[in-house]
Amino acid sequence: MLPQRMLRFDVARRSSKILLTLGIGIILGYLVCLLHSTTKDQCNSNIDNKIAQGKEMQFSGFHKYQHIHKNTTNSELSQGGRVLCWIATWPENHERKATHVKATWGKRCDILLFMSSAEDKTLPTVVLPVNEGRDNLWAKTKEAFKYSYEKYKDEVDWFVKADDDTYMIVENLRYMLSSYDPKLPLYFGCRFKPYVKQGFMTGGAGYVLSNEAVRKFVNEGLTESKNCRGNNSGPEDVEMGKCLERINVKAVDTRDELGRGRFFQLEPEKHLIPNMEPNNSWYWKYVFYETKHCIECCSDSAISYHYITPEMMYVLEYFIYYLRIYPINQSEKKLSINLSAINEKN
Ligand SMILES: *[C@@H]1O[C@H](CO)[C@@H](O)[C@H](O)[C@H]1NC(C)=O
Ligand SMILES: *[C@@H]1O[C@H](CO)[C@@H](O)[C@H](O)[C@H]1NC(C)=O
Ligand SMILES: *[C@@H]1O[C@H](CO)[C@@H](O)[C@H](O)[C@H]1NC(C)=O
Ligand SMILES: *[C@@H]1O[C@H](CO)[C@@H](O)[C@H](O)[C@H]1NC(C)=O
Ligand SMILES: *[C@@H]1O[C@H](CO)[C@@H](O)[C@H](O)[C@H]1NC(C)=O
Repeated sequence: MLPQRMLRFDVARRSSKILLTLGIGIILGYLVCLLHSTTKDQCNSNIDNKIAQGKEMQFSGFHKYQHIHKNTTNSELSQGGRVLCWIATWPENHERKATHVKATWGKRCDILLFMSSAEDKTLPTVVLPVNEGRDNLWAKTKEAFKYSYEKYKDEVDWFVKADDDTYMIVENLRYMLSSYDPKLPLYFGCRFKPYVKQGFMTGGAGYVLSNEAVRKFVNEGLTESKNCRGNNSGPEDVEMGKCLERINVKAVDTRDELGRGRFFQLEPEKHLIPNMEPNNSWYWKYVFYETKHCIECCSDSAISYHYITPEMMYVLEYFIYYLRIYPINQSEKKLSINLSAINEKN
């Protein structure tokens, strides 16, 4: 038992604690409301009637979009063709980043290559004859496509270039590609306006070339410095865009049937939440198509996001591939996990 004095002290301390908690609670509540109302207001502007059917648009409205999900069966997906993904990485990132690409989305590519300048048997890496550094990215891209094409041209339909902080939903990539012919010279990604007439696909979001596009790049681009810059300098994605335009590889509009993007240069939250990416930033000036904020920004069949930390790759894996809402469909049986069987194993 506590002595009187201590008890009184304790009561006083506790009530001041309660007051403090209450105060913090009120302030937090106010902030949450403020955030919610600004988000809601901003998300309510420019509602696309086709999508929202005149109803209010906010985050709780995710379910409204379920009706436009396509029934994609496995057979449909395999029609997308075979996909080679090459990841631009460098020695310092092998363990820090590249290994997490391999553990998450990278494993869904038919062929996964890590392009670096140092050997690493665990990834493993392809060692290209190129020095590392920003000034050599264009050289790396050229060598990587050349290597991939020479080795795998008869095995794959599509060649994907991504960074070690890009996250891709490979099933959705296959789904989009299933509408296209890899024997045509095509180029897909997050399209930016400047520097190139037809635009160029920004490197961070990852971009995709058809087998025919890579054939042209290797045979008509790398051999002719009037088509593709012969030296190592210049931003790799812009140089790629210029080169592909000159050799008549077509930049494809990768938006979905509702005009929502599929490849994204920024983190998901910067597309979903208004003003997280300031409205006067370079991104909005560069992006080719008029883009919307909030849930209208991004396709249900989105393919890529950029600036994804290794931790976030696992979070995305969970949300995309594991988390389900019950009941999704009354006739689908709830997964029953036999805990005693799991415990036995441990
Ligand atoms: C999707 O469609 C195929 C045939 O078109 C059908 O066999 C399959 O059951 C459908 N899947 C779902 C989940 O509705
Ligand atoms: C690289 O090539 C471009 C175009 O061919 C040229 O304008 C530029 O000066 C070259 N840069 C270097 C460092 O040689
Ligand atoms: C851009 O953002 C600023 C600050 O958030 C805001 O004051 C301004 O109205 C916005 N401009 C447009 C065109 O939305
Ligand atoms: C639920 O799933 C069954 C079988 O997969 C399908 O036949 C039915 O149409 C689905 N119902 C809804 C509301 O999606
Ligand atoms: C669960 O696993 C235990 C141990 O493997 C087994 O004895 C039991 O029959 C299982 N229960 C069900 C419902 O499958």
